[in-house]
Amino acid sequence: MRGFCAAKTQQLLSLIHSISPLPSVQWRAATSRLWSSSSSSEDDASGSSMLRHLTSKIKATGPISVAEYMREALTNPVMVRLRCFHVHHNETSYVILSLQGYYVKKNMLGPEGDFITSPEISQIFGELLGVWVVSEWMAAGRPKQLQLVELGPGKGSLASDILRVFTQLQPVLSAASVSLHLVEVSPVLSRLQAQTLIATGGEAEREDEPVYRYGQTAAGLPVSWYRRLEDVPSGFSIFLAHEFFDALPIHKFQRTERGWREVLVDVDPDRPGRLRFVVAPTPTLASRTLVQADESRDHVEVCAEGGVVIQQLARRVAKDGGAALIADYGHDGTKTDTFRGFKGHSLHDTLASPGCADLTADVDFSYVRRVAGRGVACLGPVAQRTFLKNMGIDVRMQVLLRNSDQSSREQLMSSYEFLTDGAKMGERFLFFGLLHPSRLVRPKMATGLKLEKKTPAQPPVAGFTEIRFA
Ligand SMILES: C[S@@+](CC[C@H](N)C(=O)[O-])C[C@H]1O[C@@H](n2cnc3c(N)ncnc32)[C@H](O)[C@@H]1O
Repeated sequence: MRGFCAAKTQQLLSLIHSISPLPSVQWRAATSRLWSSSSSSEDDASGSSMLRHLTSKIKATGPISVAEYMREALTNPVMVRLRCFHVHHNETSYVILSLQGYYVKKNMLGPEGDFITSPEISQIFGELLGVWVVSEWMAAGRPKQLQLVELGPGKGSLASDILRVFTQLQPVLSAASVSLHLVEVSPVLSRLQAQTLIATGGEAEREDEPVYRYGQTAAGLPVSWYRRLEDVPSGFSIFLAHEFFDALPIHKFQRTERGWREVLVDVDPDRPGRLRFVVAPTPTLASRTLVQADESRDHVEVCAEGGVVIQQLARRVAKDGGAALIADYGHDGTKTDTFRGFKGHSLHDTLASPGCADLTADVDFSYVRRVAGRGVACLGPVAQRTFLKNMGIDVRMQVLLRNSDQSSREQLMSSYEFLTDGAKMGERFLFFGLLHPSRLVRPKMATGLKLEKKTPAQPPVAGFTEIRFA
């Protein structure tokens, strides 16, 4: 494909070997989203405000969809300032009532947070994704512009590891104007990302500006923050979404004798102050429109909000070129009830302490493939273990181990195991690609005197195609 071959990925990887093991890697503790950390009394207070808010809403208008419940609990931006008048003292005071969602108000990532993700576990993860970005840019014929767009960048660790690869590969990338675009709904996390990624920058003066934060990296690359993907400028882009789609609201549906019915969240009449799941007695708009006619499962989860983002990604890749790499806990249309809450080192009741616990549902990649449509080529899903091995994680590990002391070596080994072991993230975490259709076009059959007998192979795509490392 336009001069691109598997050897290029190997060459790119060999060029980043001089990046040393980072000191922080020793302390990137290996506990994933499967375990989470402690709750605080602040959490309890805001959890009960959110619960009261949801209870009054349900009492006023009826049960709400699971998608609405998740949206409120994860991304509600509201902070209310209540004015209280004390009759006895004849004075006024103010109480701040936080209805802010889980992602809006706290940093939940890292050893001190609620869970940890692959980019936080090891620098190797981001480095290999950096190589993937550059190899896809090269495979597209090295366009003059390269926009790296990350959805839900967390603490900014993945982008930071990728930027280090970009610096290392500067001789390769020098022909391109490179920029970083971050789609982030959380003000707390966007501040953290700015601390990690930019040397200079500022915030928009007005709340409704599409770019709400901006800056420049130490190497001079422009970085911009947006709340919505539609605000990111068009142009050749590589999109990354790591543990983004599993944080978006899902609708849940149950097959019943009377047809598909939506699962809703209601107040529990038997347990004051508690919520419960109920099955809607009649079809809802969502149950009529979101369940496939030929669905064979008895319970399905549909992330319609994620579907809209996938369609936007697909349209942009088809129009402007580029690719989207989606990495998440997921399945290929086989699982049923995957909605989970995490808090305090263990699974947590999804309906308890809304706003204080992580809520997540596996990504259904069969749905992603369907909504992406025919304008793009879809690859995967492949297991994280396969993807990272295809990207050369073993070769990179050997180099880092050679350059590390004993304690860093142990840390590297445990991070490696965490990322690749089938019982940890190796099999449950999946990679999926949306590519411009031209990317997978087989080269034309050779013509002339010596005719090729075999149809030429499809061009390899790093990570998805097994590439043998010498
Ligand atoms: C589970 S965290 C993953 C963070 C990071 N990608 C990682 O793997 O470490 C989800 C991220 O998506 C962001 N997020 C959640 N919902 C969002 C939305 N609707 N729009 C934009 N960002 C969102 C969160 O604030 C957070 O940065």
